[in-house]
Amino acid sequence: MKHLRAIVLAAGKGTRMKSSVPKVLHSVCGKPLITYVLDVVKAVGSLKSCVVLGHQNEKVQESLPKDFDVAIQDKLLGTADAVKCTEKFFKGYKGDVLILCGDTPLLREETIKALVKQHKKTDADCTFLTAVVEDSSGYGRILRGPDGKAVGIREENDATEYEKNIVEINVGVYCFKSEVLFREAKRIQINKKKKEFYLTDIVENLARQKLKIETVETEDPTEGLGVNTLEDLAVAGREIRNRIMRDLMLDGVTVIDPATTYIDADVRIGKDTIIRPFTVIEENVQVGSHCVIGPFARLRPGTKIGNHVEVGNFTEVSRTQMGDKTLMKHFSFLGDAQVGSGVNIGAGVVTANYDGQKKSKTQISNQAFIGSDSILVAPVKIGKKAKTGAGCVVTRGKTVPDGSVIVGIPGRVLDKK
Ligand code: UD1
Ligand code: MG
Repeated sequence: MKHLRAIVLAAGKGTRMKSSVPKVLHSVCGKPLITYVLDVVKAVGSLKSCVVLGHQNEKVQESLPKDFDVAIQDKLLGTADAVKCTEKFFKGYKGDVLILCGDTPLLREETIKALVKQHKKTDADCTFLTAVVEDSSGYGRILRGPDGKAVGIREENDATEYEKNIVEINVGVYCFKSEVLFREAKRIQINKKKKEFYLTDIVENLARQKLKIETVETEDPTEGLGVNTLEDLAVAGREIRNRIMRDLMLDGVTVIDPATTYIDADVRIGKDTIIRPFTVIEENVQVGSHCVIGPFARLRPGTKIGNHVEVGNFTEVSRTQMGDKTLMKHFSFLGDAQVGSGVNIGAGVVTANYDGQKKSKTQISNQAFIGSDSILVAPVKIGKKAKTGAGCVVTRGKTVPDGSVIVGIPGRVLDKK
């Protein structure tokens, strides 16, 4: 989007999380909170963005993409102070500035686009996003004048009993003309109770100067959720999971029981695949079409599954590829394995991929038949159409030739008759 830049505020300690992990690095559906906000900023098309970091900034910076400017807020003196820290990146810039908080992962791209559109259309000095929620406690409440125009934002700590009943809240997304923003941010007085500079006070100052303030309300109030506690994190997780599953179902994936299914962000699943209850599919996993997954299956990151594959009950698959028409119906573990197509993995098969120090790979070639309770001590290679007998332990470093049969403990390849 032209003449638009963004600031993402993410320096706060996240005191209410009661955690040693910086708030914005807590994960929801396999992705850190801040990544959701940065993804939205990118999708909106903001050309250049600046992230404000403070508490444990090095740790947070490590997990961010590199295409953002980073401003460091030395002392956590509040959201207005965080904005002031970014000023040097905006020298000479005359366009609009979008501000978002790093702890609002449910925001949608369309909502932010609508906000920016309204801001530009009305040529406002400030446009900000509101949501009407059932429980407004903890949020800044929107104060409106007799004509319905927003005239201020009142933080919980300073709200009167009357103001606390207001159910329209500040989501923490604002669009400003950049000169107005940096001029007014400097004029904000410290909040005496909290000893912080509140960005939200800017609205009252603008209203007093009769500058143009616009608001946009989210269509979906859940978008306004700010994650401040671990309970909020769980609520955000539930909502994002619902969205992920809704999208999958609209794309032709059968999710038999969304309430007991956990699918992370960036998972891809093909049409006509059925996900049975109590299944966990973690971030970035890919599953082809016409597969049946679960019940009680866990597919972990780095897993890629072909078409017409079955992964049945009490199974775990991690950093593993499985080719088309491969079956693994009951209680088995595949880790760091490359499994071909048309393979049968019997009940109780385990790839022993970790020797206490390093992880090793297992290769199972096309149409191999891995008998029940086989243990494959990696690294091993099972050839095409090779078979392992029930209870066989294929020892480390072994290659089982194509078409052969291996049995026993330790596994011995039988002579061909
Ligand atoms: C803030 C808003 C509140 C709004 C809510 C929406 C203020 C004063 N209040 O409250 O009106 O309803 O968000 O979720 O802005 N941060 C910094 N530096 C600081 C302090 C905070 O970068 O010194 C960052 C935090 O990392 C966070 C964001 O700003 O991402 C918001 O801070 P937070 O403490 O969560 O504010 P809320 O109390 O949620
Ligand atoms: Mg917050």
